[in-house]
Amino acid sequence: MSRIAYVNGAYVPHAVAGVHVEDRGYQFGDGVYEVCEVRGGHMVDERRHMERLVRSLGELRIRLPMSLAALGVVLRQTIARNRVRDGLVYLQVTRGVARRDHYFPDPATPPSIVVTARALDPAKGEAAAEQGIGVITVPDNRWERVDIKTVGLLPNVLAKEAAKQAGAREAWFVDAGGHVTEGGSTNAWIVTPEGRLVTRPAEAGILRGITRTVMFEVAAELQLRIEERPFTVAEALGAREAFVTSATNFATPVVRIDGQAIGDGRPGPVARALRANYHRLAEIAR
Ligand code: PDD
Repeated sequence: MSRIAYVNGAYVPHAVAGVHVEDRGYQFGDGVYEVCEVRGGHMVDERRHMERLVRSLGELRIRLPMSLAALGVVLRQTIARNRVRDGLVYLQVTRGVARRDHYFPDPATPPSIVVTARALDPAKGEAAAEQGIGVITVPDNRWERVDIKTVGLLPNVLAKEAAKQAGAREAWFVDAGGHVTEGGSTNAWIVTPEGRLVTRPAEAGILRGITRTVMFEVAAELQLRIEERPFTVAEALGAREAFVTSATNFATPVVRIDGQAIGDGRPGPVARALRANYHRLAEIAR
């Protein structure tokens, strides 16, 4: 079956789907995106992802090119036309196509919108969670507005590639004070020796992950205490457990940081429990 992409009003074969060379997303990284998990053919936490999209667009003064209701239809159509049961749907909105000039284009310029969907093998994610993943730490050299989900991900790309070269799956960014901010495409968590969950506040310095938000509810239900505060690499190395969260990773245990084993070097019970209960508390509109 051939893949289909939605591009500016039309469903087109994925293989030939493209945007103009002067799309500002291509020229300047002047756009935002969202990634939603698809589970059993349904979007997970669509409402929260759409709320964050609206916020990201607002921060950059890009208008949403269609109503949220219409966008919901496009997302569902793209999932259906690609027959995705388990996987992800990707949405990107940029400031549109205009002659290359740093200033914003004429306000009448329509934003560009692209939606794609693809299947992911759930068994692969489960295998990674069973084994646990390794992370490396790298200096956080990103701009200050990482709370906006922009497509300008070059530091994240370089950090994740460095992780891969080092035999790890994720890179944790570390700020000037030695505190972990977040992963290249995930939020970062640890479990202290006392069993408390620790994750950095989302007011600044990180993206407010939707999965992170849902995990607060999962933790409350499991009667786990969360301390929302920064933690250092040293504290993470001495933690009982560590894990990452994102729309496609749910909670995935981290068993090595910079080559050093965390806890007993195996996925721990807290990360496992959060992962096991996550979809019960996420919003899945059927
Ligand atoms: N990444 N932090 C960063 C820098 C991210 O890129 C992401 C998501 C997250 C977790 O957010 P959420 O729980 O809403 O997925 C945190 C997506 C999945 C990506 O870039 O593919």
